[in-house]
Amino acid sequence: MHRNIWIAAVSLLSIGGVACSDSAEPEKPKEATYWQDVAPLLFDNCVTCHQSGGIAPFRLDSYAEARSWSVAIKQAVEGRTMPPWLVTSDGSCGEFHNPRWLENEEIATIAAWVEAGTPEGTPRDDLQVPMASEPGKGLEDGKSQIMAFATPNYVPEPDGSAYAKFDDYRCFLLDGSVDSKGGNRFITGYEVIPGNAAMVHHMLLMVVDPNGASDIPGKTNMDLMRAMDEASPDRLGWPCFSQAGDGVTIESLPATWAPGMGPVPYPDTTGLRVPAGRVLVAQMHYNLVDERVRGQPDSTRVRLRVADSVQREGFFMLPDEFLGSSDSLAPGKESVKYTWETDFDREMAALGVDHVDVYGVFPHMHELGQRYRLEFLDTADGVQCGAEVKHWDFDWQLFYFYERPYQLRQGTRVRVTCDYDTRGRTEPTLPGWGTQNEMCVGGMYVVLP
Ligand code: HEC
Repeated sequence: MHRNIWIAAVSLLSIGGVACSDSAEPEKPKEATYWQDVAPLLFDNCVTCHQSGGIAPFRLDSYAEARSWSVAIKQAVEGRTMPPWLVTSDGSCGEFHNPRWLENEEIATIAAWVEAGTPEGTPRDDLQVPMASEPGKGLEDGKSQIMAFATPNYVPEPDGSAYAKFDDYRCFLLDGSVDSKGGNRFITGYEVIPGNAAMVHHMLLMVVDPNGASDIPGKTNMDLMRAMDEASPDRLGWPCFSQAGDGVTIESLPATWAPGMGPVPYPDTTGLRVPAGRVLVAQMHYNLVDERVRGQPDSTRVRLRVADSVQREGFFMLPDEFLGSSDSLAPGKESVKYTWETDFDREMAALGVDHVDVYGVFPHMHELGQRYRLEFLDTADGVQCGAEVKHWDFDWQLFYFYERPYQLRQGTRVRVTCDYDTRGRTEPTLPGWGTQNEMCVGGMYVVLP
């Protein structure tokens, strides 16, 4: 299954009409006040980040603060840019675990309060500031071991090619290993903390068997990685657009990180196997289009939650059939749609299973992306909507886990439609690795039966 990453076979299809749901406007409640109506909403939905020491740039945990930000708050909740949560979660497309999606009534309450001139109401002291969401916390479950890794301090340089003009894709062998006990271990969650958030555009963590055969006859994976590393003695790591570098075979991909993602505990009692003797390779994508970041170093931290056993094994897949195709996006258009479709029959047959459970999805495009849709096409169940993004935001890319996993069977097809705004471009946009290229990834976390 994990070998399916980045495989291609294109089909261009159009999608049918999409029910629009965030335009429904319920009646506005009368006389919303801060303490009685708005504060409970902010404490529940905003203050984990918007507090002293939180990840947001300002606090929203007092009347004075909320009042001074009120116009921006109204705008952010009405536009659904805050709380950060891109997939539609009103039940019209998939049911997600712990959605940060506000109800239409809640948005109307906040709007009514702002329109009424932010009345204070009667102060109360029963509202608790929730625990801050802070980098470096949030994976702990009180029983699992957390292991810390880091990429070396590295100063990236632009690749310069058409596929990654302003980008450096660099792979590093991480110090340390997951299998300290010499047997199988399982990764059950991860957190990635970019050292230099202005340039780190993604990280993929890969499990590689150093003694395993690479795609080059007679060479092990370690032979290849060492040779690529030594080819640039003045720079750390090696170039790697495709996974862990040309010819290196990877076993699995336990962590995918993109901007905005916090800690990712895998759902239920699932985890990703790391057999004894494996090494971890991090693929870092540095984007250097902003000249101010050039010459700066990065060292990115990776925290892994590790267990000796799990109930069921999972895999991450990042299929993107746009990447590797000879298609491109026409310039100067308000909307350019790209659709691809595939099944996973071969991968399931190779694993000897007739279905897998899709536990979660990871929509991914670059900066031209504006809308996104992932669907499951099943002969028995028809078309099931798996994820819909109406307002794509490159800076908030999350993994979305389902309330109940979707059963992907032999014959089920996955269809992904990406919609791009190319008005800022005068040339066709090629699929590719650079942030200024585009991707259309149907990322999924699947679990074996
Ligand atoms: C997961 C953390 C998180 C949560 C939850 C969150 N915010 Fe934010 N918010 C941020 C960060 C980080 C920024 C600054 C970067 C950005 O704009 O994306 C921000 C920026 C903002 C801004 C500045 C303008 C804008 O849209 O970027 C407003 C207003 C805002 N948040 C309001 C809210 C409100 C209201 C809620 C709750 C309904 C909320 N936020 C929930 C993290 C969060």
